[in-house]
Amino acid sequence: MSLKKSIHIAKTIKMPKILKIIQESDPVLRKKAELIKNPKSPEIKGLIADMIATMKKASGIGLAAPQVGVPFRIFTVNVEDKVYVFINPEVKNLSQDESSFEEGCLSVQKIWGPVIRPKKLTIKALDEDGEPIKIRAKGLLARVIQHEMDHLNGTLFIDKAEKLYKIAEEK
Ligand code: NI
Repeated sequence: MSLKKSIHIAKTIKMPKILKIIQESDPVLRKKAELIKNPKSPEIKGLIADMIATMKKASGIGLAAPQVGVPFRIFTVNVEDKVYVFINPEVKNLSQDESSFEEGCLSVQKIWGPVIRPKKLTIKALDEDGEPIKIRAKGLLARVIQHEMDHLNGTLFIDKAEKLYKIAEEK
């Protein structure tokens, strides 16, 4: 590829933006997020790219749109080197079997705590292209999905944790 052509491409491709992650006291985190009516629109595609870039930059394994101030039903997950996008997700078939595991949240800094959650679930949603997907999830993926689903309903893990621990400031 010629230099001229690569300059042209650099101008026309929109680079993902790193978004500001909203913190615990902001009321947007406590609102029920709304269904996305235009999942295939350029605006949603742009939001997805920005959310993935923001999640990775923050070393997060999940990010819900309300956490970047967007009150819509969409979240991204990054588990075991795989990125998932869930638009208008529905969670079903939660297992009776539960486990407790330490959780943290990009919107609740320096606090961790164990949360009891079902081990397995089925999630139906639209993917990043607006196409229907259905996944049976277990382990960390199932846990992150439940944590992010909670964000879409205005719930934070600190509401559900058995205990909360504050991480000591580094000196
Ligand atoms: Ni969170």
